[in-house]
Amino acid sequence: MTSAKVNLVSHPLVQHKLTLMRERDRSIKGFRELLNEIGTLLCYEVTADLPLEMVEIETPLTPMKAPMIAGKKLTFAPILRAGVGFLDGMLALVPSARVAHIGLYRDPQTLQAVEYFFKAPHDLSDRTVILMDPMLATGNSACAAASLLKTRGARDIRFVCLLAAPEGIAQFQHEHPDVPIWTAAIDERLNDHGYILPGLGDAGDRMFGTR
Ligand code: URA
Repeated sequence: MTSAKVNLVSHPLVQHKLTLMRERDRSIKGFRELLNEIGTLLCYEVTADLPLEMVEIETPLTPMKAPMIAGKKLTFAPILRAGVGFLDGMLALVPSARVAHIGLYRDPQTLQAVEYFFKAPHDLSDRTVILMDPMLATGNSACAAASLLKTRGARDIRFVCLLAAPEGIAQFQHEHPDVPIWTAAIDERLNDHGYILPGLGDAGDRMFGTR
């Protein structure tokens, strides 16, 4: 199977905000707000091809047929904990979306994803699922999360991140060639600890002030 597309979101607002987030001295508050804002902008991009159906409505003047998004409600699936940084920004655009929480942490020695929580709508087979995590580094967490969603029947998954390393993209496309990726940047590489270079550091720590 050829791999689904990597969509690089080059919109100037996204690029500008991402640069602000990379700056070492950006405050926790600023970092969190920017991630939230970029979440909204990425949500706009990742939903650009959702199917529409014509429905009957009445304006104050006349009945008409007008487009509405077809199908079941979207499901947003943030990978805890940094993925929640996108969530409010995305819910601002799609307030009726369902939310699946996926708890995975990265074992600091092996860099493997370890599952500690998974709560999702029961049947995902006819929903579009937007999987989100700001950093696609080794790809281990994203791969594990996509696999968990597939065990719940998900067939239309889209992965949204802020930064991706080439190694993570390769790993994700290898394991999930059916899942397209949206990212604001593809950085140079991973360092020996699995951090993205030049990157922005640990997204979770910078959001929550835990370092
Ligand atoms: N997770 C992060 O938060 N930052 C990285 O650079 C890699 C993984």
